[in-house]
Amino acid sequence: PSVRLSVHPAGPWPPPTAQLRPPGEDAMSPTFRALLCLGLSLGLRTPVQAGTLFKPTLWAEPLPVIPWGSPVTIWCQGIPGVEEYRLVKVGSQAPWKIQKPQDPVDKAKFSISHMTEHDAGRYQCHYLSSNSWSEHSEPLDLVVTGSSSKPSLSALPSPVVPSGENVTLQCGSGEGFDRFILTKEGDDRLSWTQDSQPQPSGRSQALFPVGPVTASHKWTFRCYGCYKNRPQVCSPLSDPLELLVTESPRDTFLLSKEG
Ligand SMILES: *[C@@H]1O[C@H](CO)[C@@H](O)[C@H](O)[C@H]1NC(C)=O
Repeated sequence: PSVRLSVHPAGPWPPPTAQLRPPGEDAMSPTFRALLCLGLSLGLRTPVQAGTLFKPTLWAEPLPVIPWGSPVTIWCQGIPGVEEYRLVKVGSQAPWKIQKPQDPVDKAKFSISHMTEHDAGRYQCHYLSSNSWSEHSEPLDLVVTGSSSKPSLSALPSPVVPSGENVTLQCGSGEGFDRFILTKEGDDRLSWTQDSQPQPSGRSQALFPVGPVTASHKWTFRCYGCYKNRPQVCSPLSDPLELLVTESPRDTFLLSKEG
C-alpha cells in the first residue's frame, strides 16, 4: 500500500539535528518511517488488531494550496470495514463532514467544489470501526491562494547536486511575507515552515537546508508565502524546482577507472 504523509508543521526550523524532516516530528528517523510503513501495511491486512486502530492518513488532491474558487478533494484513508469517517476542523466543535466509505473501501472522499477562506484551515480525520474511534490523523492545513504574486524558488549554489550532498533552497518574494512554506512533491507529501528573514526594500526570503540528497527518487519542490495575520490565505505556489542529483565525484572517479 502507498503511504502518504501530509504533515504541515508549525514548529521551529531547523530542528537542531535534523534536516528535511517535519519540525514537530523531528524524531522521525528513517527507522521510524519504516516502522510506520510496516504498521500501516500490517494494518491494511489485519483490520482489527487487539483493539488498536491505526491512525488514518489525510491528504488533499491535487494539493492543499488551492486557488480561490477551485475544487479540492480531501482523502482520509483508514482500513477496510470502517463504518464512518469524520473530517474535523481544528477549533470547531461539530464534525465538519461525515462520510461512509465508498469505493475504494478503505478511504473516504470529501469534496470542496469552490475553495474559499471559509474552508481554509487545519483539518484532521478519524474513523469508527468495531464501535471504537481511531486516533486522529496528522493535521492537514488547507490554504487558499489570494491575489499576491507567486514567490521564486531557487537552489544555492545550484540545482545540480552530487548524491550525498546538501543544498539550500531559497524561497523569495518582492512582497513582505512573514513565513514561507516549502513542499516536497511525490510519495512523501511533506512540508516545512520557515519564518522569513527581512530583506532590504520590502523583500522577504527564507532558506531551507535540504539533504543529503540521493538519486533514489525525484526531489521536486515548490514554495509559497503567508502572512501571520491571515494565515489561511497565502501566495500562489512557486514554479516547481527539481534538483538534478548526480553521481558523487567519488563514484564517477571509480567508474572512469573501471571503464
Ligand atoms: C549535510 O547536512 C547534515 C545535517 O546538517 C550534516 O550532518 C552532513 O554532514 C551534511 N553533509 C555534507 C556532505 O555536507
